[in-house]
Amino acid sequence: MTTPKGLFLTFEGIDGSGKSTQARRLAEHLRAQGRDVVLTREPGGSPGAEEIRRLVLEGDPDRWSAETEILLFTAARRDHLERTILPALEAGQVVICDRFADSTRMYQGLSRGDLRALVDQLHGLMIGREPDLTILVDMDPETGLSRAKGRQGTEERFEDFGPELQRKMRAGFLGLAKEFAGRFRVIDGNRDMDTVARDIAGVVEQALV
Ligand code: ADP
Ligand code: TYD
Repeated sequence: MTTPKGLFLTFEGIDGSGKSTQARRLAEHLRAQGRDVVLTREPGGSPGAEEIRRLVLEGDPDRWSAETEILLFTAARRDHLERTILPALEAGQVVICDRFADSTRMYQGLSRGDLRALVDQLHGLMIGREPDLTILVDMDPETGLSRAKGRQGTEERFEDFGPELQRKMRAGFLGLAKEFAGRFRVIDGNRDMDTVARDIAGVVEQALV
């Protein structure tokens, strides 16, 4: 296998932290500089993975066991990687992905018991790829919840499980940033969008040189 030439960037953080907003703004910023950017998201990002997204985020929240849920998120990721991410990296593009494996480490790994080891094993077997750079948009959980609740939609999200879980996830993401200190950058998301976007652009430009 050849080493991909592009750059693989991911955004992580609790629901409502501003990941989607910032991922979109970063894509616009880099495109304005003439870079070839693919903006994508998980779960989803390829036709098959978008179908799996509906299976995991719509309908009865207890539809799947914790273990089956890990398999479904990983299956979606595998399809996304094969069909969208790796081809783009091979073509030298910058891939910006709104959530990736760190979200599974947190949500499926911590929310219904300690299943982190299982998540990591499956990741090692079926994905085996980490981002080059991960932006953690760190955020006060109450603010994140109130921002996320402002959205309408049919998807069940972890924000529906309330502030306690959001606090646990925030602490978990900060722990991951220490665990994978080489690729993580923590950005304070409790500020206005322009300031956050400027900080992120600075961090990414350093990684692109
Ligand atoms: P996420 O993808 O992390 O769930 P979003 O980017 O969808 O977050 O943002 C959630 C909501 O908060 C949106 O309505 C968005 O416009 C708003 N928002 C995002 N960033 C900020 C910010 N820095 N200050 C205030 N509101 C914000
Ligand atoms: P997303 O659309 O990014 O939600 P938000 O914009 O609110 O942050 O993700 C939808 C939900 O899917 C979110 O609650 C987190 C969850 N999720 C997992 O549980 N595991 C995963 O591996 C991924 C990628 C997302």
